[in-house]
Amino acid sequence: MHAKPFDPRRRALLRNGLAGGSALLLPPWLASCGNSSSQAVVSPGPVPPPAAAKFAPRGRHVSWTGDIYTSRTVTWFTDGSEVPAQTLEYGPVLAGMSAADIANAPFTEKVAAATTTTPFVDALTHKATADQFDEALPIRYRVGSAQGHSPVAVLRPTPRGAFRFAHFGDHGRTAGSRAVARAIRARQPDFTLLAGDLCYASGSDDLGPQEVWDDWFNQIDADLGSDTVWMTAPGNHENEGNNGVAYRNRLATPTSALSPDGTFYTFDYGNVHFVISTGGAFATDGTLAQEIAFLETDLAAAALRRAAGQIDFIVVCQHFTIWTDQEGRGPANLTLVALQEGIFVRYGVDLLAVGHDHIYQRSAPMAFGLRNPLGYVQVTSGCGGVGIRGFEPTIQGWSEKHLAQLLFVEYTVNGASMTATTYGVDETTGLTSVVDEFTIARRSSLAAHLAVQPVRELALLGKAIDGDFDRLAKRTAARNHRLCKTHHA
Ligand SMILES: [Fe+2]
Ligand SMILES: [Fe+2]
Repeated sequence: MHAKPFDPRRRALLRNGLAGGSALLLPPWLASCGNSSSQAVVSPGPVPPPAAAKFAPRGRHVSWTGDIYTSRTVTWFTDGSEVPAQTLEYGPVLAGMSAADIANAPFTEKVAAATTTTPFVDALTHKATADQFDEALPIRYRVGSAQGHSPVAVLRPTPRGAFRFAHFGDHGRTAGSRAVARAIRARQPDFTLLAGDLCYASGSDDLGPQEVWDDWFNQIDADLGSDTVWMTAPGNHENEGNNGVAYRNRLATPTSALSPDGTFYTFDYGNVHFVISTGGAFATDGTLAQEIAFLETDLAAAALRRAAGQIDFIVVCQHFTIWTDQEGRGPANLTLVALQEGIFVRYGVDLLAVGHDHIYQRSAPMAFGLRNPLGYVQVTSGCGGVGIRGFEPTIQGWSEKHLAQLLFVEYTVNGASMTATTYGVDETTGLTSVVDEFTIARRSSLAAHLAVQPVRELALLGKAIDGDFDRLAKRTAARNHRLCKTHHA
């Protein structure tokens, strides 16, 4: 299943013994096929360096901030306020390289990291982008300095044609969180969408809020982050620490003039346009109205491109649900939800991938709470590890499937179809099993054309709230604050 385009160089790599014995722990895509739904999870990746190593890089994670095929951005941390200049060294994994070569061969490329102070802790954040590499070859890399390097990790190529991505939210630092991360790594998706509430650095733990970030990133480095691309949306728990200061610093996402910190952004992967929204997570940073206008114009343009046959799907990922059946949790801040849903329905968003509610719930195509073939499919995948919740006694009519167990979703995009498999994860054994399957078909040409609509000015969008976006932002901020007070929301 999930056959990928054949790459002769990949076969050559395997034939030449990359998976042979070595101190280097290879990523699972090189070490095994890793595609059985019932297999045990692989061993975690390179463990974080011991705390005693003064300048040891830690907490590595990888994302896209530029071209998804020929670049990767690596972010990492070092302890203390001073550290030797940090670099990212990288190069292709060439046919014939042994595992020892991958670990020890000199690197052909070296870029200096941009270094900033990590908010609220005595540490530094480093970001560097490897780019302009041969997109067909895996990339080996390490970060650090002569006074301490990370282990070498290998990044898989971004495939053209069919691709897979994972989606989950509400991660945390439990045994279940780690089991989910490892299970995703074993599946080897081409990237992962993390729909907010990453580590719960909101003071609800024995550790101080910001140390929670450090601990979580060290786990991510070990479980998943060093060789799997992560694209994140902020949740209400990322709001803690002065309106997302820590989130903005510790994650690397595509930036734009509208969103200089990359809190909301877009990227295209093949025939899919992805839009990542804050959903109001950082409501008081003054960008909420700007983001609403961005959603309107960006999705209008995407609908036009889809009708013209340039793309097939529009996917929006954010933390917050539009509709939910989690017990005791209706849509919070109806005004913002209504504003957003009006835009999503108008321009025919195909998939809304969210978290926040610690349940799994998949809708039929719907609009405004009713089944509608022209609507969007909302998938709430909020069982990433921090906790599981229950459901209201009555499930709403739009719901197709609801589950309360540890899981994640994997979508396979192959031309005109997007098929998805939801994997339950056993916290103790790490074994996965299929708990839901569904398909989102490409819209008919007629439906795609119906979603081509003129862009509305912000004044028109804000008519229902008397144009008072400041009030909307304050109410949304109050929602975020309230949600952080409820345990692990
Ligand atoms: Fe949340
Ligand atoms: Fe949450």
